[in-house]
Amino acid sequence: MLDPNGPPGDKRSPVTAPTLVRAVKGMNDVLPADIGRWHRVEAAFRTAMERLGYREVRTPYLEPTPLFVRAIGEATDVVEKEMYSFTHHDEPLTLRPEGTAGAARAYVEHGVHNQEPVTRWYYLGPMFRGERPAKGRYRQFSQVGAECFGDAGPGCDAEMINGLVEFLVEIGIPEPDVFINSIGSAATRAKYKEALVMMLEPVKETLSADSQRRLSTNPLRILDSKHPADRAAVENAPAMTDFLTDEDRAHWDGLRRHLDALGTPYTVDPKLVRGLDYYGRTLFEIKGAYDKLGAGSTLVGGGRYDGMVAQLGGPEVPAIGFAAGLERLLIASDLTVPSNVVDVLIAPIGERAVEAALVLGRDVRRAGVRCDVDSRKTSIKAQLRRANSLGARFAVILGDRELDEGIVELKDLEAHSQEKIARADLPRHIAARVAVPHVAAASPTPPAPASPAGDLT
Ligand code: HAM
Repeated sequence: MLDPNGPPGDKRSPVTAPTLVRAVKGMNDVLPADIGRWHRVEAAFRTAMERLGYREVRTPYLEPTPLFVRAIGEATDVVEKEMYSFTHHDEPLTLRPEGTAGAARAYVEHGVHNQEPVTRWYYLGPMFRGERPAKGRYRQFSQVGAECFGDAGPGCDAEMINGLVEFLVEIGIPEPDVFINSIGSAATRAKYKEALVMMLEPVKETLSADSQRRLSTNPLRILDSKHPADRAAVENAPAMTDFLTDEDRAHWDGLRRHLDALGTPYTVDPKLVRGLDYYGRTLFEIKGAYDKLGAGSTLVGGGRYDGMVAQLGGPEVPAIGFAAGLERLLIASDLTVPSNVVDVLIAPIGERAVEAALVLGRDVRRAGVRCDVDSRKTSIKAQLRRANSLGARFAVILGDRELDEGIVELKDLEAHSQEKIARADLPRHIAARVAVPHVAAASPTPPAPASPAGDLT
């Protein structure tokens, strides 16, 4: 084995303290002190989506690289420079930068269109993009998202946007701003691109280097460039909605009418285009909490991608979806979650009480109560301090005298009171006084199915 300090006795490699191994830049730990808010937002998202008839789908974190190149588009920032791609045993693989391509792949691969006319899926999980890290922008980040396959109508779009706004308000983002646009079907975009390129070609030299390149690869992206010279050049660009075909226009009008009927306020942003190539017709973004996130930071992005399923080898099935960055939602949200780790701390005092405390702890947990048994045999004072830091409502003191008398001393740390109660009564007594979230009705536990021998190695 290699010795990191070099061969023994080698004077050229002095023994140094091991260097700290840190997390990869842009990838963050979420420690238990913060996890309560994550759980709350994730649970609210599941509830909101299930209320809308969506079911959870889980797709792999790793997908074949060609999936993303084909679905997201070669001339996008994500594919050009942000993907974590590598080859493993000759297979090109990529850590998923987003969830839509994987969901559409799974939809096609499992022939889901044969099983139901409309499919509503939601997902939560980590995504990976090699972007420059900043507040709200990470290299591993989590998205909550949803995809609806099989409904081409604008009612589906409006319902999704409305449901999202209700979810955002529920998690403490009070006034989210919805921005919408329609980039029409492929025919509309082809006509629009032609007009845009014609307008920008004469001023090409004034554009940023990125936009000069995009003029031939992906001219629509110039519309949302942050570069001042690009912004000036597109200031008077025609609105894409002026180029819509009759069918596109009917869809666009329908979307706005439905949003009005649902009471969802929105702003039409004719320059809204998105960084992924698969979109057509409806595009939307939701922003908010500008004081916490800054003006440029988008909470939610989504839109229609009616061509993707066919492009991945499936039938012509329309689709729409969105994704929100969970870290951004958590920065934006006013939600606070009390961190109360257990309800009870059982403190055995002295060696003899430890075993009785372990048994008592087991019985208290069986009654559905969260309980920590601190068997380090420290002082009562230290135990009470620990009970406080765990947010425990009760501390149970169990010393020699209590053991002999078959009782415990129960301290109510909120009411600052104490009482002696019979040890056997403690589980029931405490369960009645703390909110036990869910205790299964007393039914015999079914025996675990016998696992076939040798199936796990
Ligand atoms: P997106 O706009 O690339 O769309 O990402 C959606 C959201 O994910 C963003 O609005 C942001 O909140 C969050 N996000 C993106 N990149 C990062 C990052 N580096 N760090 C932190 N958060 C980030 C999509 O991903 C599409 N798949 C959305 C969609 C679903 N369209 C149709 N269906």
